[in-house]
Amino acid sequence: MSDVLVCVRDYELRARQILPKSVFDYYFSGADEQETLRDNVAAFKRWCFYPRVLRDVSTVDLSTTVLGQRVSLPICVSATAMQRMAHPDGETATARACLSSGTGMMLSSWSTSSIEEVCEAAPGGVRWLQLYIYKDRALTQSLVRRAEDAGYKGIFITVDTPYLGRRRDDVRNRFKLPSHLRMANFESPDLAFSKKEGYGEDSGLAVYVTQAIDAAVRWQDIGWLKTLTKLPVVVKGVLTAEDAKEALKYGVDGILVSNHGARQLDGVPATIDALPEVVAAVGGQVEVFMDGGVRMGSDVLKALALGAKAVFIGRPVLWALACQGEKGVSDVLEMLREELHLALALTGCRSLKEVNRSLLRRPELISRI
Ligand code: FNR
Ligand code: LAC
Repeated sequence: MSDVLVCVRDYELRARQILPKSVFDYYFSGADEQETLRDNVAAFKRWCFYPRVLRDVSTVDLSTTVLGQRVSLPICVSATAMQRMAHPDGETATARACLSSGTGMMLSSWSTSSIEEVCEAAPGGVRWLQLYIYKDRALTQSLVRRAEDAGYKGIFITVDTPYLGRRRDDVRNRFKLPSHLRMANFESPDLAFSKKEGYGEDSGLAVYVTQAIDAAVRWQDIGWLKTLTKLPVVVKGVLTAEDAKEALKYGVDGILVSNHGARQLDGVPATIDALPEVVAAVGGQVEVFMDGGVRMGSDVLKALALGAKAVFIGRPVLWALACQGEKGVSDVLEMLREELHLALALTGCRSLKEVNRSLLRRPELISRI
Protein backbone atom coordinates (compact mmCIF):
# COMPACT_ATOMS: atom_id res chain seq x y z
CA MET A 1 0.00 0.00 0.00
CA SER A 2 1.28 3.48 -0.90
CA ASP A 3 2.31 5.75 1.97
CA VAL A 4 0.17 8.53 0.57
CA LEU A 5 -3.36 8.54 1.92
CA VAL A 6 -5.68 10.14 -0.65
CA CYS A 7 -9.18 9.01 0.33
CA VAL A 8 -11.11 7.81 3.38
CA ARG A 9 -10.75 4.22 2.22
CA ASP A 10 -6.93 4.55 2.41
CA TYR A 11 -7.24 5.65 6.04
CA GLU A 12 -9.51 2.68 6.78
CA LEU A 13 -7.05 0.19 5.27
CA ARG A 14 -4.16 1.74 7.18
CA ALA A 15 -6.15 1.81 10.45
CA ARG A 16 -6.88 -1.88 10.04
CA GLN A 17 -3.11 -2.51 10.01
CA ILE A 18 -2.45 -0.27 13.03
CA LEU A 19 -5.24 -0.93 15.52
CA PRO A 20 -5.50 -3.95 17.83
CA LYS A 21 -8.01 -6.36 16.33
CA SER A 22 -10.70 -5.99 19.00
CA VAL A 23 -10.57 -2.18 18.67
CA PHE A 24 -10.75 -2.23 14.87
CA ASP A 25 -13.60 -4.75 15.05
CA TYR A 26 -15.57 -2.59 17.51
CA TYR A 27 -15.17 0.51 15.34
CA PHE A 28 -15.85 -1.26 12.05
CA SER A 29 -18.72 -3.55 12.96
CA GLY A 30 -22.32 -3.29 11.96
CA ALA A 31 -25.13 -5.34 13.47
CA ASP A 32 -25.86 -8.99 12.64
CA GLU A 33 -25.19 -9.84 8.95
CA GLN A 34 -23.99 -6.27 8.26
CA GLU A 35 -26.38 -5.91 5.26
CA THR A 36 -27.19 -2.32 6.18
CA LEU A 37 -23.51 -1.61 6.87
CA ARG A 38 -22.71 -2.39 3.23
CA ASP A 39 -25.83 -0.66 1.94
CA ASN A 40 -25.11 2.61 3.77
CA VAL A 41 -22.14 3.02 1.40
CA ALA A 42 -23.57 1.25 -1.66
CA ALA A 43 -26.83 3.22 -1.71
CA PHE A 44 -25.02 6.46 -2.51
CA LYS A 45 -23.82 4.89 -5.76
CA ARG A 46 -27.39 4.29 -6.94
CA TRP A 47 -27.90 8.04 -7.32
CA CYS A 48 -26.36 9.73 -10.38
CA PHE A 49 -25.45 13.35 -10.86
CA TYR A 50 -26.89 15.22 -13.83
CA PRO A 51 -24.48 18.17 -13.89
CA ARG A 52 -25.00 21.59 -15.42
CA VAL A 53 -22.15 23.27 -17.30
CA LEU A 54 -20.86 26.75 -18.18
CA ARG A 55 -21.86 28.44 -14.96
CA ASP A 56 -18.67 30.23 -13.79
CA VAL A 57 -17.57 28.05 -10.90
CA SER A 58 -14.34 29.97 -10.32
CA THR A 59 -15.43 30.48 -6.71
CA VAL A 60 -17.47 28.03 -4.66
CA ASP A 61 -18.77 28.73 -1.14
CA LEU A 62 -19.16 25.69 1.12
CA SER A 63 -20.16 27.50 4.29
CA THR A 64 -23.52 27.04 6.01
CA THR A 65 -25.12 27.02 9.45
CA VAL A 66 -26.03 24.10 11.69
CA LEU A 67 -28.60 24.89 14.40
CA GLY A 68 -27.66 28.55 14.06
CA GLN A 69 -23.89 28.00 14.28
CA ARG A 70 -21.74 28.96 11.30
CA VAL A 71 -19.56 26.16 9.92
CA SER A 72 -17.11 26.43 7.04
CA LEU A 73 -18.35 23.22 5.43
CA PRO A 74 -21.49 21.08 5.75
CA ILE A 75 -19.57 18.11 7.15
CA CYS A 76 -19.60 17.74 10.93
CA VAL A 77 -18.28 14.99 13.17
CA SER A 78 -20.72 12.48 14.63
CA ALA A 79 -20.49 10.97 18.10
CA THR A 80 -18.29 7.91 18.22
CA ALA A 81 -17.58 6.43 21.62
CA MET A 82 -14.19 5.81 23.21
CA GLN A 83 -11.86 7.60 20.79
CA ARG A 84 -8.76 7.13 22.98
CA MET A 85 -8.68 3.52 21.80
CA ALA A 86 -7.76 4.96 18.38
CA HIS A 87 -5.17 7.48 19.58
CA PRO A 88 -3.91 8.60 23.02
CA ASP A 89 -5.32 12.11 22.48
CA GLY A 90 -8.77 10.75 21.54
CA GLU A 91 -11.60 13.26 21.56
CA THR A 92 -9.32 16.20 22.39
CA ALA A 93 -7.52 15.66 19.07
CA THR A 94 -10.84 15.48 17.22
CA ALA A 95 -11.99 18.69 18.89
CA ARG A 96 -8.83 20.57 17.88
CA ALA A 97 -9.08 19.32 14.30
CA CYS A 98 -12.74 20.38 14.08
CA LEU A 99 -11.89 23.81 15.42
CA SER A 100 -9.08 24.34 12.92
CA SER A 101 -11.29 23.17 10.04
CA GLY A 102 -14.14 25.39 11.20
CA THR A 103 -16.65 22.64 11.72
CA GLY A 104 -18.77 21.20 14.53
CA MET A 105 -18.19 18.15 16.70
CA MET A 106 -20.76 15.96 18.42
CA LEU A 107 -19.19 14.47 21.55
CA SER A 108 -20.37 11.02 22.64
CA SER A 109 -21.67 10.62 26.20
CA TRP A 110 -19.26 7.69 26.21
CA SER A 111 -16.15 9.66 25.39
CA THR A 112 -12.80 8.81 26.94
CA SER A 113 -12.14 12.55 27.41
CA SER A 114 -14.67 14.40 29.53
CA ILE A 115 -17.10 17.10 28.42
CA GLU A 116 -14.89 19.67 30.18
CA GLU A 117 -11.53 18.33 28.93
CA VAL A 118 -12.74 18.57 25.34
CA CYS A 119 -13.84 22.15 25.95
CA GLU A 120 -10.44 23.09 27.41
CA ALA A 121 -8.57 21.41 24.55
CA ALA A 122 -10.26 23.52 21.88
CA PRO A 123 -11.84 26.64 23.39
CA GLY A 124 -14.42 28.31 21.22
CA GLY A 125 -15.19 25.29 19.05
CA VAL A 126 -18.74 24.49 17.97
CA ARG A 127 -19.76 21.39 19.90
CA TRP A 128 -22.87 19.44 20.74
CA LEU A 129 -23.35 16.68 23.31
CA GLN A 130 -24.75 13.32 22.24
CA LEU A 131 -26.94 12.07 25.06
CA TYR A 132 -28.09 8.66 26.18
CA ILE A 133 -30.93 8.60 28.70
CA TYR A 134 -29.77 6.68 31.76
CA LYS A 135 -32.14 4.87 34.10
CA ASP A 136 -30.75 7.39 36.59
CA ARG A 137 -32.48 10.58 35.45
CA ALA A 138 -30.50 12.82 37.82
CA LEU A 139 -27.30 11.57 36.18
CA THR A 140 -28.78 12.24 32.73
CA GLN A 141 -29.75 15.73 33.80
CA SER A 142 -26.24 16.39 35.14
CA LEU A 143 -24.74 15.56 31.73
CA VAL A 144 -27.01 18.16 30.13
CA ARG A 145 -26.08 20.71 32.76
CA ARG A 146 -22.36 20.06 32.30
CA ALA A 147 -22.70 20.51 28.53
CA GLU A 148 -24.47 23.83 29.06
CA ASP A 149 -21.82 25.01 31.51
CA ALA A 150 -19.04 24.06 29.11
CA GLY A 151 -20.59 26.04 26.25
CA TYR A 152 -21.94 23.19 24.13
CA LYS A 153 -24.46 24.40 21.56
CA GLY A 154 -27.03 21.63 21.57
CA ILE A 155 -28.05 18.11 22.59
CA PHE A 156 -28.34 15.22 20.16
CA ILE A 157 -30.42 12.59 21.87
CA THR A 158 -29.88 9.11 20.49
CA VAL A 159 -33.23 7.38 20.08
CA ASP A 160 -32.28 4.14 18.37
CA THR A 161 -30.49 2.43 21.26
CA PRO A 162 -32.81 1.10 23.99
CA TYR A 163 -30.47 -1.92 23.79
CA LEU A 164 -27.19 -2.25 21.96
CA GLY A 165 -27.38 -3.92 18.52
CA ARG A 166 -25.70 -7.30 18.26
CA ARG A 167 -22.26 -6.94 16.75
CA ARG A 168 -20.94 -10.47 16.37
CA ASP A 169 -17.23 -9.65 16.51
CA ASP A 170 -17.73 -7.77 19.79
CA VAL A 171 -19.39 -10.87 21.23
CA ARG A 172 -16.53 -13.06 19.95
CA ASN A 173 -13.93 -10.64 21.32
CA ARG A 174 -15.83 -10.13 24.63
CA PHE A 175 -15.28 -6.45 23.87
CA LYS A 176 -14.43 -4.11 26.73
CA LEU A 177 -12.32 -1.00 27.21
CA PRO A 178 -8.56 -1.48 27.56
CA SER A 179 -7.72 -1.28 31.28
CA HIS A 180 -6.00 2.14 31.12
CA LEU A 181 -9.15 3.83 29.75
CA ARG A 182 -12.58 4.76 31.10
CA MET A 183 -15.67 6.61 29.96
CA ALA A 184 -14.50 9.92 31.31
CA ASN A 185 -17.85 11.54 32.11
CA PHE A 186 -18.60 9.10 34.92
CA GLU A 187 -17.11 8.40 38.36
CA SER A 188 -17.94 4.82 39.34
CA PRO A 189 -16.28 1.92 37.51
CA ASP A 190 -19.78 0.57 36.77
CA LEU A 191 -20.81 3.68 34.86
CA ALA A 192 -17.34 4.38 33.45
CA PHE A 193 -17.34 0.93 31.78
CA SER A 194 -14.06 0.21 33.55
CA LYS A 195 -14.93 -2.79 35.70
CA LYS A 196 -12.39 -5.58 35.33
CA GLU A 197 -15.01 -8.37 35.46
CA GLY A 198 -18.73 -8.83 35.28
CA TYR A 199 -19.55 -8.60 31.58
CA GLY A 200 -19.95 -12.37 31.14
CA GLU A 201 -19.42 -13.96 27.74
CA ASP A 202 -20.99 -11.14 25.80
CA SER A 203 -19.96 -7.82 24.34
CA GLY A 204 -19.15 -5.88 27.50
CA LEU A 205 -20.76 -2.79 25.99
CA ALA A 206 -24.02 -4.64 25.33
CA VAL A 207 -24.10 -5.64 29.00
CA TYR A 208 -23.32 -2.05 30.04
CA VAL A 209 -26.22 -0.70 27.96
CA THR A 210 -28.70 -3.21 29.36
CA GLN A 211 -27.65 -2.34 32.91
CA ALA A 212 -27.45 1.45 32.67
CA ILE A 213 -29.56 2.76 29.80
CA ASP A 214 -33.32 3.23 30.06
CA ALA A 215 -35.10 0.99 27.56
CA ALA A 216 -38.45 2.48 28.63
CA VAL A 217 -37.78 5.87 27.01
CA ARG A 218 -40.79 7.23 25.04
CA TRP A 219 -41.60 10.37 23.05
CA GLN A 220 -42.78 12.07 26.25
CA ASP A 221 -39.17 11.93 27.45
CA ILE A 222 -38.19 14.26 24.61
CA GLY A 223 -40.65 16.70 26.17
CA TRP A 224 -38.93 16.13 29.54
CA LEU A 225 -35.53 16.85 27.99
CA LYS A 226 -36.88 20.05 26.43
CA THR A 227 -37.95 21.24 29.88
CA LEU A 228 -34.41 20.67 31.21
CA THR A 229 -32.59 22.89 28.76
CA LYS A 230 -32.88 25.85 26.44
CA LEU A 231 -30.29 24.31 24.11
CA PRO A 232 -31.56 23.01 20.77
CA VAL A 233 -32.53 19.33 20.94
CA VAL A 234 -32.03 17.06 17.93
CA VAL A 235 -33.28 13.47 17.76
CA LYS A 236 -30.59 11.19 16.37
CA GLY A 237 -31.77 7.98 14.79
CA VAL A 238 -35.05 8.70 12.98
CA LEU A 239 -35.69 6.75 9.74
CA THR A 240 -39.39 7.24 8.94
CA ALA A 241 -41.85 9.99 8.07
CA GLU A 242 -44.06 8.85 10.96
CA ASP A 243 -41.36 9.35 13.58
CA ALA A 244 -40.28 12.62 11.99
CA LYS A 245 -43.83 13.94 12.45
CA GLU A 246 -43.89 12.66 16.03
CA ALA A 247 -40.60 14.47 16.68
CA LEU A 248 -42.10 17.72 15.41
CA LYS A 249 -45.05 17.32 17.80
CA TYR A 250 -42.60 17.20 20.70
CA GLY A 251 -40.88 20.39 19.62
CA VAL A 252 -37.49 19.09 18.49
CA ASP A 253 -35.13 21.57 16.87
CA GLY A 254 -33.69 19.15 14.35
CA ILE A 255 -33.74 15.57 13.11
CA LEU A 256 -30.67 13.47 12.34
CA VAL A 257 -31.57 10.69 9.93
CA SER A 258 -29.29 7.91 11.15
CA ASN A 259 -29.17 4.17 11.52
CA HIS A 260 -26.31 4.46 14.01
CA GLY A 261 -23.77 3.51 11.38
CA ALA A 262 -25.76 0.28 10.77
CA ARG A 263 -24.88 -0.91 14.27
CA GLN A 264 -28.35 -1.27 15.73
CA LEU A 265 -31.04 -3.03 13.64
CA ASP A 266 -29.69 -4.76 10.56
CA GLY A 267 -32.07 -4.66 7.60
CA VAL A 268 -33.10 -1.03 7.95
CA PRO A 269 -32.67 1.18 4.89
CA ALA A 270 -29.47 2.96 4.06
CA THR A 271 -29.75 6.45 5.48
CA ILE A 272 -29.45 8.13 2.08
CA ASP A 273 -32.57 6.16 1.07
CA ALA A 274 -34.47 7.09 4.25
CA LEU A 275 -33.59 10.77 3.96
CA PRO A 276 -36.11 11.88 1.26
CA GLU A 277 -39.20 10.69 3.15
CA VAL A 278 -38.07 12.39 6.35
CA VAL A 279 -37.29 15.62 4.48
CA ALA A 280 -40.74 15.51 2.86
CA ALA A 281 -42.49 14.89 6.20
CA VAL A 282 -40.62 17.71 7.92
CA GLY A 283 -41.47 20.16 5.15
CA GLY A 284 -38.76 22.64 6.14
CA GLN A 285 -40.02 23.12 9.73
CA VAL A 286 -36.68 22.12 11.30
CA GLU A 287 -33.22 21.26 10.00
CA VAL A 288 -32.69 17.70 8.82
CA PHE A 289 -29.25 16.10 8.93
CA MET A 290 -27.99 12.66 7.99
CA ASP A 291 -25.14 10.33 8.81
CA GLY A 292 -24.11 6.84 7.70
CA GLY A 293 -21.79 5.76 4.92
CA VAL A 294 -20.53 9.21 3.95
CA ARG A 295 -17.04 8.53 2.58
CA MET A 296 -16.56 11.11 -0.20
CA GLY A 297 -17.36 14.70 -1.01
CA SER A 298 -19.77 13.51 -3.68
CA ASP A 299 -21.71 11.54 -1.04
CA VAL A 300 -22.10 14.80 0.87
CA LEU A 301 -23.41 16.56 -2.22
CA LYS A 302 -25.96 13.79 -2.81
CA ALA A 303 -27.23 14.09 0.77
CA LEU A 304 -27.54 17.87 0.45
CA ALA A 305 -29.34 17.52 -2.88
CA LEU A 306 -31.86 15.24 -1.15
CA GLY A 307 -32.52 17.86 1.51
CA ALA A 308 -29.97 17.44 4.33
CA LYS A 309 -28.74 20.72 5.81
CA ALA A 310 -25.42 19.05 6.67
CA VAL A 311 -23.99 15.56 7.08
CA PHE A 312 -22.07 13.93 9.93
CA ILE A 313 -19.24 11.43 9.68
CA GLY A 314 -18.41 8.68 12.18
CA ARG A 315 -15.88 6.02 11.19
CA PRO A 316 -13.77 8.21 8.88
CA VAL A 317 -12.72 10.20 11.96
CA LEU A 318 -11.76 7.05 13.84
CA TRP A 319 -9.60 5.84 10.95
CA ALA A 320 -7.98 9.28 10.72
CA LEU A 321 -7.30 9.36 14.47
CA ALA A 322 -5.76 5.90 14.37
CA CYS A 323 -3.44 6.88 11.51
CA GLN A 324 -2.30 10.34 12.60
CA GLY A 325 -4.22 11.74 15.58
CA GLU A 326 -5.24 15.39 15.27
CA LYS A 327 -3.35 15.80 11.98
CA GLY A 328 -5.16 12.79 10.54
CA VAL A 329 -8.58 14.19 11.42
CA SER A 330 -7.65 17.61 9.99
CA ASP A 331 -6.34 16.00 6.82
CA VAL A 332 -9.50 13.92 6.36
CA LEU A 333 -11.74 16.95 6.91
CA GLU A 334 -9.69 18.97 4.42
CA MET A 335 -9.70 16.10 1.92
CA LEU A 336 -13.49 15.88 2.14
CA ARG A 337 -13.71 19.66 1.80
CA GLU A 338 -11.70 19.53 -1.44
CA GLU A 339 -13.74 16.63 -2.76
CA LEU A 340 -16.99 18.46 -2.00
CA HIS A 341 -15.67 21.67 -3.54
CA LEU A 342 -14.81 19.78 -6.73
CA ALA A 343 -18.16 17.98 -6.81
CA LEU A 344 -20.03 21.27 -6.48
CA ALA A 345 -17.99 22.93 -9.19
CA LEU A 346 -18.39 19.98 -11.57
CA THR A 347 -22.16 19.99 -11.12
CA GLY A 348 -22.27 23.73 -11.78
CA CYS A 349 -23.08 24.93 -8.25
CA ARG A 350 -21.41 27.99 -6.73
CA SER A 351 -22.82 27.65 -3.25
CA LEU A 352 -24.91 25.25 -1.18
CA LYS A 353 -27.98 27.38 -1.90
CA GLU A 354 -27.83 26.22 -5.51
CA VAL A 355 -27.86 22.53 -4.56
CA ASN A 356 -31.21 20.88 -5.05
CA ARG A 357 -32.98 17.69 -6.08
CA SER A 358 -32.63 18.43 -9.80
CA LEU A 359 -28.93 17.44 -9.59
CA LEU A 360 -29.81 13.78 -9.02
CA ARG A 361 -31.63 10.98 -10.77
CA ARG A 362 -31.93 7.24 -10.22
CA PRO A 363 -31.14 5.78 -13.66
CA GLU A 364 -32.69 2.36 -12.93
CA LEU A 365 -35.99 4.01 -11.97
CA ILE A 366 -35.98 6.38 -14.91
CA SER A 367 -35.50 3.57 -17.45
CA ARG A 368 -38.72 1.91 -16.23
CA ILE A 369 -40.85 5.02 -16.76
C1 FNR B 1 -21.03 5.14 16.87
N1 FNR B 1 -22.22 5.84 16.92
C2 FNR B 1 -22.62 6.40 18.10
N2 FNR B 1 -23.80 7.07 18.16
C3 FNR B 1 -24.20 7.64 19.31
O1 FNR B 1 -25.26 8.25 19.33
N3 FNR B 1 -23.41 7.57 20.43
C4 FNR B 1 -22.24 6.91 20.45
O2 FNR B 1 -21.56 6.86 21.46
C5 FNR B 1 -21.84 6.26 19.26
N4 FNR B 1 -20.70 5.53 19.23
C6 FNR B 1 -20.28 4.98 18.05
C7 FNR B 1 -19.10 4.26 18.03
C8 FNR B 1 -18.63 3.75 16.84
C9 FNR B 1 -17.34 2.99 16.83
C10 FNR B 1 -19.35 3.96 15.64
C11 FNR B 1 -18.83 3.44 14.32
C12 FNR B 1 -20.53 4.63 15.67
C13 FNR B 1 -22.96 6.13 15.67
C14 FNR B 1 -22.42 7.41 15.03
O3 FNR B 1 -22.80 8.54 15.78
C15 FNR B 1 -22.94 7.62 13.59
O4 FNR B 1 -24.34 7.54 13.59
C16 FNR B 1 -22.36 6.63 12.60
O5 FNR B 1 -21.02 6.32 12.90
C17 FNR B 1 -22.44 7.19 11.19
O6 FNR B 1 -22.03 6.27 10.26
P1 FNR B 1 -20.56 6.19 9.61
O7 FNR B 1 -20.16 7.60 9.24
O8 FNR B 1 -19.67 5.59 10.65
O9 FNR B 1 -20.77 5.30 8.44
C1 LAC C 1 -21.94 2.09 19.60
C2 LAC C 1 -22.47 2.87 20.74
C3 LAC C 1 -21.44 3.42 21.60
O1 LAC C 1 -22.49 2.18 18.50
O2 LAC C 1 -23.36 3.82 20.36
O3 LAC C 1 -20.99 1.31 19.83
